[in-house]
Amino acid sequence: MSSLLVDNIGELVTNVPAAGGEGPLGLRRGVALLVEAGRVVWIGPARYAPAADRRIDAEGGAVLPGFVDSHAHLVFAGDRAAEFAARMAGEPYTGGGIRTTVGATRAASDDDLRDTVGRLREEAMRQGTTTMEIKSGYGLTVADEARSLRIAAEVTAETTFLGAHVVPAEYAGRPDDYVGLVCGPMLTAAAPYARWVDVFCERGAFDADHARAILTVGQAAGLGLRLHANQLGPGPGVRLGVELGAASVDHCTHLSDADVDALAGAAGTDDPTVATLLPGAEFSTRSPYPDARRLLDAGVTVALATDCNPGSSYTSSMPFCVALAVREMRMTPAEAVWAATAGGARALRRTDVGLLRPGVRADLMILDAPSHLHLAYRPGVPLVRQVLHNGVPQCRL
Ligand code: NIG
Ligand code: FE
Repeated sequence: MSSLLVDNIGELVTNVPAAGGEGPLGLRRGVALLVEAGRVVWIGPARYAPAADRRIDAEGGAVLPGFVDSHAHLVFAGDRAAEFAARMAGEPYTGGGIRTTVGATRAASDDDLRDTVGRLREEAMRQGTTTMEIKSGYGLTVADEARSLRIAAEVTAETTFLGAHVVPAEYAGRPDDYVGLVCGPMLTAAAPYARWVDVFCERGAFDADHARAILTVGQAAGLGLRLHANQLGPGPGVRLGVELGAASVDHCTHLSDADVDALAGAAGTDDPTVATLLPGAEFSTRSPYPDARRLLDAGVTVALATDCNPGSSYTSSMPFCVALAVREMRMTPAEAVWAATAGGARALRRTDVGLLRPGVRADLMILDAPSHLHLAYRPGVPLVRQVLHNGVPQCRL
């Protein structure tokens, strides 16, 4: 069995403070890391490193767990650059453009969709993302939702059925009928390819009753729960997600004290509902950023994700989201890096990614910088030099 040693590490972010590292990131220095069969098998002082078949010299760069991007919409066709330009000229974001992408996606071939998913997945990987959740939601027919998830499942295990993204034009004025379709034949066709079910619970999309109905039948079909909640205005989504035991409520831009209390109340439980913040969406819709500090100070588990989609956040870059979170959302660099790695893993209820200790998947990145601080300190700079995914180097050096 071939082994791979990563050494000459400037700083190792483990996210395992109990293992003796420094601070909440469990930072360790002077250590090396051994990979075998896709797993981390040893971390210890570099001078005691076991012999290995191959070696990667980190050249004094920081090594971190790969990013866990727990919220992305990659199965689509076309783009909405003109809509972005209009927003930058003062138009508001409404979510109405989703139907434009639905039209383009329905018209696209499987191979076109596969090419886009593959291209964006690789783009994310080059920026350190080793786990990526991918949603459907631009098909909105039984066949188009099922094929979106089938194509997503070719590149990730973290697939999410978002048939309840918006009510499609052919069901205009008949939301109950559309929800019936989502809960019935669409769920049946989608569930074999999905791990999660999600609903856009927002004025103009789906209300709390619809969201509850869809999430309840999704759960009965064996899917885990997630929710787009409180993105464009205050609403019932966050509290509904906590009540139903969702793994994550996402966006959380407009929160009342009751929403924060609900999330904080769940924080002490075994599987708390994570608040996943998506600063790329606020950047690209020129909206106020969520206040991460308020959530963190209340004890809520916070994740960061890209929300990569052609409408509200066309970025695959977790380093960009980390930088935004630090600059605009009152997170420290350590909090933002934790939220983009371990936080994302919590949002997907994964214990094998988002941290580095013996036994976990060898998913990690090596930076062209000595510390994790540089991810926020050097925004827009391609700092990720190498990525190991399941122990396999992804970048040509
Ligand atoms: O998470 N808010 C709903 N869905 C996406 C936006 C989709 C789009 O505009 O195409 C989001 O921001
Ligand atoms: Fe989204």
